[in-house]
Amino acid sequence: MRGGVDDWYGAFVQFLGESPAVRVLRDRLVAVAQTPLPVLLIGETGTGKEVAAQVLHEASGRAGAFVPVDCAAISPTLVESELFGHERGAFTGADRRRDGLIAAAQGGTFFLDEVAELPLEVQTRLLRLLQEGTFRPVGGQGQRKADIRVIAATWKDLSQEVHAGRFRRDLYHRLGVVELRLPPLRERTQDIGLLLDAFLEAEGERIGRRPPRLESAVRAHLRRWPWPGNVRELKNVAHYLVALSSGPRVTMADLPPQLRGPVPVMPSLTVDAPKVRTDLPYIEARRQWLDAFQLKYVSQLLEEHDGNISQAARASQMDRRSIQRILKRLRALSTQES
Ligand SMILES: Nc1ncnc2c1ncn2[C@@H]1O[C@H](COP(=O)(O)OP(=O)(O)OP(=O)(O)O)[C@@H](O)[C@H]1O
Ligand SMILES: [Mg+2]
Repeated sequence: MRGGVDDWYGAFVQFLGESPAVRVLRDRLVAVAQTPLPVLLIGETGTGKEVAAQVLHEASGRAGAFVPVDCAAISPTLVESELFGHERGAFTGADRRRDGLIAAAQGGTFFLDEVAELPLEVQTRLLRLLQEGTFRPVGGQGQRKADIRVIAATWKDLSQEVHAGRFRRDLYHRLGVVELRLPPLRERTQDIGLLLDAFLEAEGERIGRRPPRLESAVRAHLRRWPWPGNVRELKNVAHYLVALSSGPRVTMADLPPQLRGPVPVMPSLTVDAPKVRTDLPYIEARRQWLDAFQLKYVSQLLEEHDGNISQAARASQMDRRSIQRILKRLRALSTQES
């Protein structure tokens, strides 16, 4: 079973980007690759968690396979036998013994994608695998030795999942010995041009077309786009442009329709008009009301200034840094919502 990867980026995988955040991340990936430690990759959808896992595997020099598993896609009733394998007669329908994905990853790397979705019983088995380096197939008696490197990924906040009782704390600590965060694309806008060119080039080569050149207004627009789908979304836009742009130069009119409008500041967030909470003491009700007002004011302000923080600061006579701080909160809220 494959994880959520879209394709194989060339014969050997590269984590592209030259922004400071990506350079640091790449250095850490290479440094940790040579160790047997589990790695936990955290990041929004499309930020490159699977690419990072592949880079880790390749740089580890492990001879076995890279085996990705999408924990969200396996049915909860089958997940144990899918992962650990089963003996003949272990359950109705198990008419012969079968190796699981862990066996397939022997000597290689086991990539647990969307790890937050694993049922609690399976979490317990996984913990044992990590602690003792052994596992037991479903319906089996003895333990089998496992030589696998475990990498896990999720977009969820695992500490919150632990808090809510949905994820084992001890497993979280085991998996997260090395926790690496993949920054959303909007936090590394300097990579947008470079990624775009790489994707245009590769796609042009793949389908045998000369990649089109982007007008500078288009480049500027794409650099300011918030990219809620991150690098995957950018890559899809590049593929669209190679396939569909009418001439050698891409103008605003050639962009996919959803990208043509003004840059939305908060694509998915609507800040509700604050409610006055008379069920709370006056001071607390006022604090909450003012807090909601602040979010509403800044989100509307930025909307009106096309996301340009300097302009918004001048117009509102607010401090740039206050706007940035509030924007950060708005973004956190908008990722919680979607
Ligand atoms: N830094 C990068 N360099 C080159 N390609 C990248 C990079 N980051 C992401 N990609 C490409 O973007 C697409 C999405 O990446 P990937 O599948 O690794 O994201 P993800 O974080 O696993 O997303 P999801 O949470 O939705 O599974 C893939 O096609 C991948 O090749
Ligand atoms: Mg993925």
